[in-house]
Amino acid sequence: MNDPTTIRRLYGRSKGRPLRAGQAALVEELLPALGVPEAGPLDSRALFGDDRPLHFEIGFGAGEHLAFRADLLPDHGFIGAEPFLNGVAAALGHIRDGRLANIRLHMGDALDLLERVPDGGLRFVYLLHPDPWPKARHAKRRMINPGPLDLIAAKLETGGEFRLGTDDPVYCRWAMMVMAGRRDFDWLAECAADFLTRPGGWPETRYEAKARREGREVWYFRYRRV
Ligand SMILES: C[S@@+](CC[C@H](N)C(=O)[O-])C[C@H]1O[C@@H](n2cnc3c(N)ncnc32)[C@H](O)[C@@H]1O
Repeated sequence: MNDPTTIRRLYGRSKGRPLRAGQAALVEELLPALGVPEAGPLDSRALFGDDRPLHFEIGFGAGEHLAFRADLLPDHGFIGAEPFLNGVAAALGHIRDGRLANIRLHMGDALDLLERVPDGGLRFVYLLHPDPWPKARHAKRRMINPGPLDLIAAKLETGGEFRLGTDDPVYCRWAMMVMAGRRDFDWLAECAADFLTRPGGWPETRYEAKARREGREVWYFRYRRV
């Protein structure tokens, strides 16, 4: 299959402008304490020492959504993966400022990490504003493809939720088409307002705010794993 789970290559940048001293210190000191273990299954017992529900965010950007959700649900556990160093540094800042003890981070590919979660081990998976790869010849790089979706479906518990947000009209149509073809996910929208307005508990990230400032629309999709 020709999609990101089989290509196994990270596209996009992993570094931006140099980190400020404070951010570099966070990466050096806090990241090792919050990093997921190098090997072994990623379940709540291994990560948090109990049986709490687990959430997984793919490509958390600067970590605003991850930190917001973790603050909202302090008894749940959160795993976030993001290869972009500056994003990881920003997320660490949110974790420190919010004194959040229920997040574990991985700097790298989300799919590598997702594979280590036991099947049915997640209550929520978040994919917010994934890189759109708008050119048709790059479509196989999109996260919304059979390989990543099979993995997400396997790792969600029955009744678990997959949330997808995008501000890209090509991606929006693509995602609706691909998701409509899946029997393992039910779209939770009952009317247009359900995907045109931000659902409760879904905060705006800086990325999303910028998209709106630049005149783009944002679509919010919620799917139930059946
Ligand atoms: C457009 S940004 C959106 C960031 C964030 N989700 C938000 O809404 O603000 C897409 C993010 O996906 C990350 N990304 C791309 N491929 C990834 C992968 N294989 N695993 C984890 N993150 C990935 C990129 O580094 C980038 O930060």
